[in-house]
Amino acid sequence: MTEVEIFEVGPRDGLQNERRFIPTEKKVALVDCLSRAGFRRIEVASFVSPKWVPQMADSGDVLRQITRAGGVSYAALTPNLMGLNAALAARADEVAIFASASEGFSRANLNCSIAESLNRFVPVMQAAEQAGIPVRGYISCVTDCPYDGPTPPAEVARLAGQLSAMGCYEISLGDTIGKAVPESIAAMLRAVLDEVPAGRLAGHFHDTGGMALANIEASLAQGVRVFDAAVGGLGGCPYAPGASGNVATELVHEWLTGMGWRTGLNREVLAQAARMARDLCHGED
Ligand code: HMG
Ligand code: MG
Repeated sequence: MTEVEIFEVGPRDGLQNERRFIPTEKKVALVDCLSRAGFRRIEVASFVSPKWVPQMADSGDVLRQITRAGGVSYAALTPNLMGLNAALAARADEVAIFASASEGFSRANLNCSIAESLNRFVPVMQAAEQAGIPVRGYISCVTDCPYDGPTPPAEVARLAGQLSAMGCYEISLGDTIGKAVPESIAAMLRAVLDEVPAGRLAGHFHDTGGMALANIEASLAQGVRVFDAAVGGLGGCPYAPGASGNVATELVHEWLTGMGWRTGLNREVLAQAARMARDLCHGED
């Protein structure tokens, strides 16, 4: 198999960390450009508390105003039932719940323990199933947590198994603070693969330590074929001190295609989207 999918998360994970509010029409223009690049899935919205993440407050408008391309699934984060209802009203094609493998980050990001977050996800899963939309599951801090230190692989495996059993169609494994190295990724994946097959896993690497490509390589070796990335290398997480951007989509694309993998993406459109993304975040209105 020579195909790898890049799941574009720039409009959500990339932009959520920007302090200056980016006008809705500029977010929409970025998504519309990305829609022409050949992605199958683009995360464009996050229905979280606007007090916690003000940049995502216009998520409903973004979803309503984009020009939807055939065959593209437009995704949104939904931490609870309130978020799910807003995502459904704005016609998200799929949603994602997000948990942490470490208690410290769960508390900082969701204001609750890991167990409490799973309880909140139960009605989200039920309502999504009723509405007939797929749910992806994120796990943060899969190797390292900014509050608790190294994360035991067994904790990640347990949570991955729980999210999978709850009905998540894919589990995205997040190196939230970009501290992972190929060895820690390999050890974590060996544990997770006992619970969830590689075909239902994705790698989500922030590039703080410059190891994202090496971590993708380590994940490919274990059979993972989906990687999250943000065009222009934007982003970070507002509740993970020191986290920098996601690995840049155009970099992952170049690297993968150079190694003989097919992504189905258009290089020129990606370059255009990367320029747009960088302009958005450098104040060039
Ligand atoms: P809370 O304060 O514990 O919840 O926050 P609450 O239920 O008590 O609600 C507090 C207020 O938020 C209330 O409003 C609610 O109505 C409102 P108030 O009465 O104060 O005016 N509220 C909402 N508003 C809009 N949409 C909602 C919603 N829910 C409650 N869905 C909560 C709990 C989960 C809401 C909060 O902790 C939160 O919003 N956290 C989100 C943090 C976040 O977005 N982090 C970044 C995304 S995760 C990430 O980036 C990691 C990832 O990329 C993977 C990786 O890299 O590791 C996915
Ligand atoms: Mg992230």
